[in-house]
Amino acid sequence: MIKIGVIGCGHWGPNHIRIFNQFSNSRVLMCADLDEKRLASIQKLYPQVNAVKDYRKILKSSEIDAVCIATPTNTHYPLSKAALEQGKHVFCEKPLALEEQQCLELEELARKYKRNLMVGHVFLFNQGILRLKEYIRSGELGKVYYAHATRTNLGPFRYDVNALWDLAPHDVSIFNFLFESCPVNVSARGLRCLGTALEDLAFASIEYPKNILINIHVSWLDPKKVRQITIIGDKKMVVWDDLDQIGPIKLYDKHVEKTSRFYETYGEFQLLSKEGSITIPNVIFQEPLKAQAQYFLECIEKKRTPERASARKGYDVVRVLNAIQRSINENGNAVKIG
Ligand SMILES: NC(=O)c1ccc[n+]([C@@H]2O[C@H](COP(=O)([O-])OP(=O)(O)OC[C@H]3O[C@@H](n4cnc5c(N)ncnc54)[C@H](O)[C@@H]3O)[C@@H](O)[C@H]2O)c1
Repeated sequence: MIKIGVIGCGHWGPNHIRIFNQFSNSRVLMCADLDEKRLASIQKLYPQVNAVKDYRKILKSSEIDAVCIATPTNTHYPLSKAALEQGKHVFCEKPLALEEQQCLELEELARKYKRNLMVGHVFLFNQGILRLKEYIRSGELGKVYYAHATRTNLGPFRYDVNALWDLAPHDVSIFNFLFESCPVNVSARGLRCLGTALEDLAFASIEYPKNILINIHVSWLDPKKVRQITIIGDKKMVVWDDLDQIGPIKLYDKHVEKTSRFYETYGEFQLLSKEGSITIPNVIFQEPLKAQAQYFLECIEKKRTPERASARKGYDVVRVLNAIQRSINENGNAVKIG
């Protein structure tokens, strides 16, 4: 039985409490929040959980094996650090930290204390995203030319980070996972519309190795909730729509062929679009948050590094976010990612 303490019981933390209490091999013993109203509401739902105001009580408890951190982004680094130093395994919500150096330090601490540190890149546990990965890996799409992602809604607004840092960790972690690499270059624009110091939306063009160009659009100022990714290959094209009731994946058997039929010289050709069928494969739904928690527990039990969402993967995401932010600050200047 892995005993868990959850730090942060705002909007998201209670989901982790629910999930970790569903398994036979884990139990949430404690939770912490600075806000007493949040504690009271958790206490009502889960009377058996010891709800405390000071997270340090969780870290000091010898009963707790692992902590789950679901607090605002600027607290991720100090809380993860303190938890690792107390010998706890750590699951930290995305993004792992605000600075690359902090991520590397946390990775080193996890190594030093022989504890697991995993980041909440929950879309890496989404069955639709796993299907995209399979299409790329198997060559079903052929050579990938480009892709675009849209993650929009009206709210929820955050006051600790802008829309880029709130929403884009998902898309960046997805594309790093799909292409098994980190981008080399970014160019981005953002806009502050609502009178705060935070960007409410961002458009980022990101170049991955092999000339794969990605566009990411994130916004919390949009009339429609959209969670979509389109990938264009030279054999097939695919759309992932997490909110589509019929199925999250549509595979388009469409591509473009070159023909020189009507031309006399080599090098002259016509482009012909080839229209095939659209397939909606059966993707069995599994709650990504549950799959993510299961993976975290399994890695602890089997003493394995949580490779899929390791501290290093979290570092890669933070590296890209910082490059995008720099480009936004410089009005779209291209920023190289070393
Ligand atoms: N994976 C996802 O899809 C997803 C979705 C939503 C939020 N998140 C992440 O979860 C985290 C929390 O988001 P949220 O929407 O729940 O935020 P929130 O502001 O609603 O809740 C954060 C809570 O943390 C508490 N808190 C702050 N500092 C604390 C401290 N030192 N000790 C104890 N409690 C403290 C606050 O009182 C608050 O109740 C963020 O990192 C966010 O990025 C992830």
